[in-house]
Amino acid sequence: MNTIRKIGVFTSGGDSPGMNAAIRAVVRSAVHNDIEVVGIRRGYQGMIENEFVDLDSSSVSNIIQRGGTILKSARSEQFRTPEGRQQAFENVKKQGIEALIAIGGDGTFQGATKFNMEFQIPVVGIPGTIDNDLYGTDETIGYDTALNTAMEAIDKIRDTADAHNRLFLVEVMGRDAGFIALETGIAGGAELILLPETLTEISDIKASLSEVFRVHQRSSLVVVAEGDETGGAIKLADNIKDDFGKYDMRVCILGHIQRGGSPSARDRVLSSRLGLAAVEALLEGHTNVMVGIVNNEVKYTPMKNTWSKKKSIDYKLLELSKILS
Ligand code: F6P
Repeated sequence: MNTIRKIGVFTSGGDSPGMNAAIRAVVRSAVHNDIEVVGIRRGYQGMIENEFVDLDSSSVSNIIQRGGTILKSARSEQFRTPEGRQQAFENVKKQGIEALIAIGGDGTFQGATKFNMEFQIPVVGIPGTIDNDLYGTDETIGYDTALNTAMEAIDKIRDTADAHNRLFLVEVMGRDAGFIALETGIAGGAELILLPETLTEISDIKASLSEVFRVHQRSSLVVVAEGDETGGAIKLADNIKDDFGKYDMRVCILGHIQRGGSPSARDRVLSSRLGLAAVEALLEGHTNVMVGIVNNEVKYTPMKNTWSKKKSIDYKLLELSKILS
């Protein structure tokens, strides 16, 4: 077992519901092991600008249910420079921080890996992104909540779509990955789901929609991932409007609504498990790994693999969506 006296914890990149629950779990697990915790506000930018705050058990009371992140988040351009990282390291050292826990997505982990390689400071990652696009964990923190938020929005859109027999194109988040689109599409009974992982020609999209209208003779709903090769819902609408004009097409971009809100029970439990796992990983001497849950077991994945290896969507789910639409 390692002896670590003080750790730093931060959230970085796009926030996700459950990050607060993860901060709470890190702090309380550290306190349980007699480790002091310093919170770093605004991620890597806060490291550079000296935004440190001592955290104890009571600092994280009453946050498990809150969306966003009490430590704030940022995307730091300065941290991409050697000078920025040097400044960050000097500030971290001055605080007496001996190891770091980084909560975020692939950009956060790329920064953490570089920092670890340059300054040998131990670092463990906790996967926090609504996109669920990190290799090494079945689900990332915030994904389940985002799914439910998007599904509820789709249910509401369906009511009004049906009242007018309209065609709705609903865009969900997912810059490079279609996890949110796939599962909300299935849960919301979408007639068509478009993902960055699959290439769908405009002619095929038109053919599928024509068939759906022929069979069902009523409103239709398409879920499009923002990163889909069609260019998203607005572009897609433009490309198909001439053929589907009579269905009075509408576009709805769900956007950042998907990132906010109180985390689901599942996200709170996941965050709590991963917060404890991250502290234990540091105590066991692991560094430059992400903690994840795979088949209900805690797993450590080399941080580099979390973004360089591609986590696959479940193609069987995509087939299922086609059969059921
Ligand atoms: O990575 C999470 C994510 O929500 C993506 O799905 C989305 O493309 C991006 O962040 C949006 O980032 P920002 O909040 O900086 O606009």
